[in-house]
Amino acid sequence: MTPSDAPPIGAVPPRGPRPRVFSGMQPTSDLHLGNYLGALRQWVAGQHERDNVFCVVDLHALTIPEAIDPAHLRARSRSVAAMYLASGLDPEASTVFVQSHVPEHTECAWLLNCVTPLGWLQRMTQFKAKTDGRESIGTGLLDYPVLQAADILLYDTDEVPVGEDQVQHIELTRDIAVRFHHLFGEVFVLPKAVVPKSGARIMGLDEPTVKMSKSIADERPGHAVRLLDPPDAIRKAIMSAVTDSERETRFEQASPGVRNLLTIWQVLDGRPMAELEAEVDGKGYGALKKAVVAVVVDALAPIQARYAELQADPAELDALLARGAERARGTAAATLARVKAAVGVGA
Ligand code: TYM
Repeated sequence: MTPSDAPPIGAVPPRGPRPRVFSGMQPTSDLHLGNYLGALRQWVAGQHERDNVFCVVDLHALTIPEAIDPAHLRARSRSVAAMYLASGLDPEASTVFVQSHVPEHTECAWLLNCVTPLGWLQRMTQFKAKTDGRESIGTGLLDYPVLQAADILLYDTDEVPVGEDQVQHIELTRDIAVRFHHLFGEVFVLPKAVVPKSGARIMGLDEPTVKMSKSIADERPGHAVRLLDPPDAIRKAIMSAVTDSERETRFEQASPGVRNLLTIWQVLDGRPMAELEAEVDGKGYGALKKAVVAVVVDALAPIQARYAELQADPAELDALLARGAERARGTAAATLARVKAAVGVGA
């Protein structure tokens, strides 16, 4: 590169041929089918065509401190990382690490805080939902999406594979980056959310008008299928899923609970919806539920087996996460240096 071709100091470095992917999950509770179908499955599917970074976002889990069990948080973070790998992430193709092991995330979040208008955060749907009815609201909860923006922007991320509920946070990340660029010059790659065509919003089995969520699953056993549930528990949750008093199994005409079951079946089975509809047409919801149980049990069995193997060798998982954090830090530190240079701080 001749001096005239060289990017200006602090500018975004040249990009590799493969898109960079970043995503993460909170270790607040055991992962469920919504996390798998909305996010994890697409991480695994695209990993060999992309350059991937996947994080367990333990600092985000602290934003509802009442729900945190400090004695178990570390173990849960490791367990979520093990679930990433058990679901098929290849540690050669993907960097897997725990957010708090890379301190650049919190430092970058501060620098982004300083360019983020308060109103943008107050408008976030998830903030409003999580604070609804609460007397005391932590600053961390309001600031949650800024830390998420730091996670994403630190890795020069092109694509963020997530479920539908996270799209607003990714759009906010772009807005924060653009505002930073106006104030201090271009240092970030602008990311976009990538949402699966089907499965981006899996609904609660016991209440198909609300999204399947980890916090509700902790309170109501029939709400979710968790990825580590044994076949009996999976059967029980799906067979008692809320449907309606009709026999309508055509997706377009079906009620929310039936649509949800058809969606889960279709995503895991892979055949076109019309074929599945024909298979259970006129047979009632019992037949549909049995088909869903079968496909979920089949999909989760190999994941559960790999998870058990990983649990048997904790040292190996720790070593992998240490390597992941080291690799992640290389990129994160370079981006943070650009950000600090742009605003005029740092040695
Ligand atoms: P979290 O832990 O709530 O959810 C992890 C992923 O699972 C998806 N998801 C769902 N998809 C379909 N149906 C559902 N019912 C369902 N429930 C959850 C979520 O969309 C998400 O993709 N804020 C993020 C964590 C995060 C992050 C990031 C994500 C922190 N930093 C940077 C991407 C990039 C969250 O709460 O995820």
